[in-house]
Amino acid sequence: MRDHPRAGKSTGKVMSAQDLRSSSTLQFRPRIEVESYGRRLTKVAEETMVCAMGLFDSNRKHSSPNGGAPRLHIGSGNKRLEGWVNIDLLPLPGVDVVADVTQGLDYRDCEVVFAEHFLEHLAVDDALNFLLECHRVLAPGGWLRLSTPNLDWVWSTHYRVEAPEEEKRVMAMRLNRAFHGWGHRFLWNRQVLGEALEACGFDQVHWCTYGESDLAVFQGLERHETYADDPGLTHVLIVEGRKSAAQPGRLDKLRARLNDEFLNHLDG
Ligand SMILES: C[S@@+](CC[C@H](N)C(=O)[O-])C[C@H]1O[C@@H](n2cnc3c(N)ncnc32)[C@H](O)[C@@H]1O
Repeated sequence: MRDHPRAGKSTGKVMSAQDLRSSSTLQFRPRIEVESYGRRLTKVAEETMVCAMGLFDSNRKHSSPNGGAPRLHIGSGNKRLEGWVNIDLLPLPGVDVVADVTQGLDYRDCEVVFAEHFLEHLAVDDALNFLLECHRVLAPGGWLRLSTPNLDWVWSTHYRVEAPEEEKRVMAMRLNRAFHGWGHRFLWNRQVLGEALEACGFDQVHWCTYGESDLAVFQGLERHETYADDPGLTHVLIVEGRKSAAQPGRLDKLRARLNDEFLNHLDG
């Protein structure tokens, strides 16, 4: 088991380029509904173009590009990391594997998992399942690093109850944009994210700063735009945790609280 330096010592619907090439998504479907036909055509055109440009290598599907234990970069977008398996829902340039990771991760014995500005794009129950999947696919003692917008920062920089009327009109929109914009589904604070990681079986959970880590493998990874932050109130939460024993009791409690306080209220 690998210790943190500071510590006392599905089947997933994974699709490689080959899958995409032979997938029915690339074949003409005469009975496709008219309203979705335009969207489908655009998607097919995008996928075909990406494949034709040779941006995928199907052999990378299950293995690490450097031949060692896989290092997974989830929701990589166009921020490719060399030596990592770059996984995204969209076939963007630089993505190695196109997959919806809410359907599971088709890996095992991974060294590390990294996801920047990704977790907030999952519904909170999918996010918990994703953390459990990360836990499952990591080798014993493997590490996870996440970066996600800080709810404390969003709240305190986007809204002031005592602001003048005109300002509050704009603030109301900006705060809602932070919650709903860019496909965001759930914003996290330290308390809930820390609890979720521990409930999903991670220990040595600790908070980091942009680009910095005591683990060499995580140093200098963040690519997303950043701001000059107040150290006491960073705009993102960056957290690392080590795979440890599963915590079914804690997970049940967290799920129950999420249901009571949030999920059961979503549909009115
Ligand atoms: C805000 S972007 C972040 C991209 C990059 N990591 C960065 O920091 O700039 C979120 C990415 O997550 C991907 N994503 C969202 N849901 C996903 C899912 N269920 N499975 C895989 N990728 C997903 C999106 O396609 C998008 O590229």
